[in-house]
Amino acid sequence: MGASVLLGITGGIAAYKAPLLVRLMVKAGMNVHVVMTRAATEFVTPMTLATLSGNSVSLDMWGERDHPAVKHISLADATRIAVVAPATANFIGKLANGIADDMLTTTLMAYNKPTIICPSMNVNMYQNPILQANLQKLNLFGYQMMIPDSGELACGWTGEGRMPEPEAIFREVERRLGPRDLDGLRVLVTAGPTEEPLDPVRFLTNRSSGRMGVAIAKRALARGADVTLISGPLKVATPHGVNHIPVRTALEMMEKVLERFHESDLVVKAAAVADFRPEIVHEEKIKKEELGATINLVRNPDILATLGSRKWPDQILVGFAAETSNAIQNARIKLKNKNVDILVLNDVSKTGAGFDCETNIVRLMFRSGDEEQLSLMSKEDVADKILSRALDLRRRVNH
Ligand code: PMT
Repeated sequence: MGASVLLGITGGIAAYKAPLLVRLMVKAGMNVHVVMTRAATEFVTPMTLATLSGNSVSLDMWGERDHPAVKHISLADATRIAVVAPATANFIGKLANGIADDMLTTTLMAYNKPTIICPSMNVNMYQNPILQANLQKLNLFGYQMMIPDSGELACGWTGEGRMPEPEAIFREVERRLGPRDLDGLRVLVTAGPTEEPLDPVRFLTNRSSGRMGVAIAKRALARGADVTLISGPLKVATPHGVNHIPVRTALEMMEKVLERFHESDLVVKAAAVADFRPEIVHEEKIKKEELGATINLVRNPDILATLGSRKWPDQILVGFAAETSNAIQNARIKLKNKNVDILVLNDVSKTGAGFDCETNIVRLMFRSGDEEQLSLMSKEDVADKILSRALDLRRRVNH
């Protein structure tokens, strides 16, 4: 039997397509557990879904005499991914605001694995700013949204709001489940900026949002790795299931990374670590008049270079380089000087690359001298490429 999937169905007309989705999943060997809201049963019968999935369908918290009240936990534990299709505006509103008043919302409250939401509704409901704010909130919490299709809607309107076809949802679930090829590997990722305080209210930092590092942590987790994420302040949520160690300064990051380095098989340093920190950190807020025109800075240790000098042959070390000019030449120097196995160069002067955006354009540069230029893609896709190349290297070293 393949992966176990939790399929949530809520009360929209697109629920009539849910049996087709179950059929596709079951044909691919997935073990599908369906949870329906009461409203969903007005559109499609639990009997149909139970017959197609081969499992009993969960409808409410109190109907299960054999598994009183803990069914939602066992469902959350037993499945690797959840998908809600269709997801109504009402359901999205409840999930975004922590309301757990039925079997589906309660199960998802206990769910700490990837969850795909497929909104489906009338175009005006979809464009309602309240619904959009709820979607953004869920996105921030790490839920993945499938953008609805545009076209003729069951209500007679035309526009955005149609649930993606079951085939597209199935492909997305399959993609998200991916291979478990990092099973048993301990992956250490750094992400985000560091903050270097000058006094209790002022600090030096940079524009890193943490998206790139978080994407690597997320994909490594999905591919079966045991993931530790050491990060400065992030603008995005950390994935459930990752061991997150928040830090603030470069020195704190160095300390935490060194503590865990010896027990890591793969280390990816996506953090934008400050190269300098103020020489003196004032305990009290510095008065304007005392703040002078010059701040003395001292160099921070280079964490990546330190790891490069200490690494074992079978530990794979991946560094990043953020460049704006002479990008390739500068990156080749970093690859050598920091003794990394793969250097991921992002030319942050390019649109769609680098800091605080959803995408990246990177060049993978290997110790062997090989280089691979990747086109513009989502940070999660970049993460998958990096992880696959790192895994190839590790397999080669171990043979
Ligand atoms: O967080 P996002 O908004 O998604 O943006 C992603 C990113 C642009 C921050 C990321 O893709 C990236 O390029 N990270 C590295 C940024 C950086 O610090 O580049 P660098 O060329 O200055 O450093 C090279 C490498 O040395 C990096 O792996 C860095 O983590 C490491 N380093 C740098 C300085 C230092 N004192 N210690 C280090 O370990």
